[in-house]
Amino acid sequence: MARRLTGPARRRRLIPGGSLIRHDIPAGPGGHRPVAASAGDAATLEAAKAARRVPVTHTFLMCPPEFFAVEYAINAWMDPRDPPDRACAWAQWRQLRATLTGLGHAVHTIDPVPGLPDMVFAADGATLIGGKVLSARFRWPQRAPESAAYLHWLTRNGYGPAAEARAVTEGGDVVDAGRVILAGYGFRTDQAAAGDLEALFGLPVLSLRLVNERFYHLDTALCVLDDDCAAYYPAAFDEPSRATLAGHFPVLVEAEDQDAEVLGLNVVSDGRHVVMSGQAAGLTRRIAALGFTPVPVDMSEFRKSGGGPRCCTLELGKVRMRAAP
Ligand code: ARG
Repeated sequence: MARRLTGPARRRRLIPGGSLIRHDIPAGPGGHRPVAASAGDAATLEAAKAARRVPVTHTFLMCPPEFFAVEYAINAWMDPRDPPDRACAWAQWRQLRATLTGLGHAVHTIDPVPGLPDMVFAADGATLIGGKVLSARFRWPQRAPESAAYLHWLTRNGYGPAAEARAVTEGGDVVDAGRVILAGYGFRTDQAAAGDLEALFGLPVLSLRLVNERFYHLDTALCVLDDDCAAYYPAAFDEPSRATLAGHFPVLVEAEDQDAEVLGLNVVSDGRHVVMSGQAAGLTRRIAALGFTPVPVDMSEFRKSGGGPRCCTLELGKVRMRAAP
């Protein structure tokens, strides 16, 4: 259920460009507040903005696109008559992996399984938060065997023990927001998954109802940039869910249609760098204006299956770094 809008929400205003920024967030080191981004000496401001965005090193699991294809249609993006180009998909996947390792993250790979063309979307195969593991339960039979494949890899590599999801739970609908977990429902994951998530991970769960079939997983409609900053596509959510998000995040950026349509919200953020579609120009600018560093990648072949950078990475864990690299 959506939480009620609380006091701080009343102190928000819409800034030009459609971003909702709260004015009472504490200033970071150097006294910088994102909302002051248009004032003061630009160079000093840039340095301050960069300084307060401390990256967190992640470990990711990725699945090579060996068997990636669009052979069935389980979301509104997929059309088997418009197949992805194999060579191009490989190049894009390698670019994503190189981008992540180039930023200092560790990337493991899982062996792809023949007959599982969506296994490349590793984010869906399990959910790991704070070292605990929840295996996925997929909505559609085409993807169901992926769950065991990911569970096998995780167990063999020292993660777990894993809990089994009772309700349908796909990793694309579960987003770790630090103090809370965000859980999408409406197309894939059951609303009841929230109870499992809360019980296993011991964090409050904010349930968010997705209402637009093009944004069928939460991570296609929302990204968490750090514990206090998120971006989302309002049209993908019902009104109570929009209010829930506005009540939780001090800084909430609204993505426009063009950015959402290129799956611009499907990002990997380490708290400073935001690996995202280079085609989401407006969102890139807004994210940069908040002091994050957008890192563009091209995932157009995966978009034919409804996926982007976040979908292709399963987060295994993170370590906060002492200083920005
Ligand atoms: N074709 C895949 C599906 O429909 C895409 C999954 C993308 N994953 C995600 N986390 N959004 O299941």
